Amino acid sequence: MGSALRIGVIGAGGMGGRHARNLTTHVPGAQVSLIMDLDQARADATAAACGGARTCADGQALIRDPEVDAVVIASPDPTHAELALACLAAGKPVLCEKPLATSLADAERVVRAEAELGRRLIQLGFMRVYDPAHRALQAALTEGRLGRPLLFRGLHTNLATGHPRSAADVIINSAVHDFHSARWLMADEVASVQAQHVPARPDQPDSCRLLLVQLRFAGGALGSVEVNAASGYGYEVEVALTCEHGMASTGPQPEPWLRSAGQQGQAVPPDWLVRFEQAYVLELQDWIRSLRAGQAHGPSAWDGYISLAIAEAARHSLASGQPTGITAMARPALYG
Ligand SMILES: NC(=O)c1ccc[n+]([C@@H]2O[C@H](COP(=O)([O-])OP(=O)(O)OC[C@H]3O[C@@H](n4cnc5c(N)ncnc54)[C@H](O)[C@@H]3O)[C@@H](O)[C@H]2O)c1
Repeated sequence: MGSALRIGVIGAGGMGGRHARNLTTHVPGAQVSLIMDLDQARADATAAACGGARTCADGQALIRDPEVDAVVIASPDPTHAELALACLAAGKPVLCEKPLATSLADAERVVRAEAELGRRLIQLGFMRVYDPAHRALQAALTEGRLGRPLLFRGLHTNLATGHPRSAADVIINSAVHDFHSARWLMADEVASVQAQHVPARPDQPDSCRLLLVQLRFAGGALGSVEVNAASGYGYEVEVALTCEHGMASTGPQPEPWLRSAGQQGQAVPPDWLVRFEQAYVLELQDWIRSLRAGQAHGPSAWDGYISLAIAEAARHSLASGQPTGITAMARPALYG
């Protein structure tokens, strides 16, 4: 394939704007051709930064556009499933931001549609698999010296948001990343979860200041995922694993150690765009390379589905106060 792949981007906010700019400046073999956002000024500003891409007013029209070879979905979570289904219907590859859907039933529709098609068109935006710190941790595990992992511990902090978030949103929008990370690094499936939370406000029991989800893996290992929804100090994602013959963690971040005004320490990133800056570029480079070689091989729609199945179980556990098993459809042959 000689000419550049023409990419349509749906949603030009924090994430979509970053993807569009990264595609333009850091990804050989790709060119942003069309941008759609409900906020036209945002679409225009992103198009101007992307070498004169066109804009349009409708996501479905963008997917059908003959000048779009592949699609990035970075609009809000509830839009993902229908747009991903439209990409499958149009036969166009898509990098769909997480979550795959906001309900397990919708995620199942997407997985079934792709399985019926018989080829992988969807890659999920689980970019931690491209983060050098996470990759180094996985390499240490697969090298074998540490032995079998026995315990996964994931820490995920957000700086803050204006309003308290609901527990459902923290699970589906944030913890879904950690569920995928746990499955990927432990090379095992989660069998059951027990979720608890501290409400952000005592008079709003469904609000979430802190979420703790304990995991039990099919192979018997344990795990915990802590999501601090409003840390007040910054954005962090860390993983620590206890293994049969040692421990491994994602290690200190590369920011410099500073001494100034009577204090010393490292800056904490304010958000994911800073912490995972490199991962987002590597994710897009790999996605485009894989499309030019045949088809996507990064995190799949199945990964999106199973992470959402774990999220659903966590929501049920939160409501019942009981450990809850993961209920999922059988894995279609397409996903190996
Ligand atoms: N992989 C990651 O690390 C990561 C990080 C942040 C966000 N995300 C995901 O990316 C998506 C976008 O998040 P964000 O942080 O960029 O949000 P954002 O609010 O900054 O941007 C969303 C954009 O979508 C536009 N929009 C709203 N409804 C739309 C529609 N129906 N069609 C097209 N555009 C529409 C908004 O005008 C806005 O510009 C979300 O699904 C989020 O979960 C992923």
